[in-house]
Amino acid sequence: MSCTSVSSFTPSLFSPSKHSSLSNHKLRLIQCSVGGQDVERPPVWLMRQAGRYMKAGFQINSYQIICEKYPSFRERSENVDLVVEISLQPWNVFWPDGVILFSDVLTPLSGMNIPFDIVKGKGPIIFDPIATAADVDQVREFSPEESVPYVGEALTILQKEVDNKAAVLGFVGAPFTLASYVVEGGSSKNFTKIKCLAFSQPTVVLHSLLQKFATSMTKYIRYQADNGAQAVQLFDSWATKLSPVDFEEFSLPYLKQIVDAVKQTHPDLPLILYATGSGGLLERLALTGVDVVSLDWTVDMAEGRRRLGHDIAVQGNVDPGILFGSKDFITNRIHDTVTKAGKGKHILNLGHGIKVGTPEENVAHFFEVAKAIRY
Ligand code: CP3
Repeated sequence: MSCTSVSSFTPSLFSPSKHSSLSNHKLRLIQCSVGGQDVERPPVWLMRQAGRYMKAGFQINSYQIICEKYPSFRERSENVDLVVEISLQPWNVFWPDGVILFSDVLTPLSGMNIPFDIVKGKGPIIFDPIATAADVDQVREFSPEESVPYVGEALTILQKEVDNKAAVLGFVGAPFTLASYVVEGGSSKNFTKIKCLAFSQPTVVLHSLLQKFATSMTKYIRYQADNGAQAVQLFDSWATKLSPVDFEEFSLPYLKQIVDAVKQTHPDLPLILYATGSGGLLERLALTGVDVVSLDWTVDMAEGRRRLGHDIAVQGNVDPGILFGSKDFITNRIHDTVTKAGKGKHILNLGHGIKVGTPEENVAHFFEVAKAIRY
């Protein structure tokens, strides 16, 4: 497979005929870059590139208009047509090298017998938080084919639509992060309930819950890959709330188990691992065996690279806040990040998801600058 990329980028916003100009595009730059092949620039996509910052005006059916029509996040993320449409919105406007499925880390929960909702202004809500061994017994192992067939269908359609001009990205929540939601009952500040379980009777409740998530997420990654995902990101957003010694007990073994199992059946599927505020854990994140460690913006990219070495790829790590700045600042920060990451084995991204209220034209500028880079 050739690893060249289109030589110039004009967001479709300004160029309605983008698809015809892509007819010779042969690559999935993300796989090439992660695999250490010679690439002319870093591939680029942005976490939360689909969503609320996308306003009316840029597209006929913007995310915000879809939200008015379908106010429930679960409906938007569990209906094949809406999932495909929302996932493709940033593709149609910015032309990223990765097109991430519109879904959520919590999507598998109802199929595991853990009822939940995601409520506007409040975030995730777990109706019956898990507290005891008896609660864990009620948790069902996940069967993606039965519980989330819309995910497989959407990924298959996305792969056809994107047609190898970019990589279709799937994702899952990591066991500790999922456990933190279902034990805390939703988002948490201090993580006291899960720490109570971790530091009192971990084997009875928390380890058996984490094991159920590890087995289930292994199946979910394989299912996503079998249905069209060409790389999968694991979000262990809250693992960094653990001390390193506790990360080694409550997160690392489960991540490693998932990675080892997926590598056995899908050795060529790039696996990316993201955790927020991961500076204290970087080397340990690499021990999971993933192909790419996604850095948040509190880590200097050059230091992150030095600490991780050149065998593993890195992703990131521009501060999402930079997108509220001037175009010059955005340009300079992108160049600084790419220079510090060095040639190859780097996926350019933000250090966390795009924030609500981000000026959409600054996102367009980010992609324009990123795609014009040549090593
Ligand atoms: O990156 C993408 O564009 C794909 C879509 C995606 C969503 N959630 C859609 C979503 C991804 C990859 C996620 C992952 C996710 N969800 C994580 C891990 C990444 C991270 O942020 O650390 C976590 C922890 C969640 C749990 C979750 N889902 C929270 C805390 C919230 C509320 C956030 C808020 O700002 O309200 C959600 C809801 C959610 N998931 C939204 C989106 C676009 C916002 C709700 C909406 O648009 O209606």
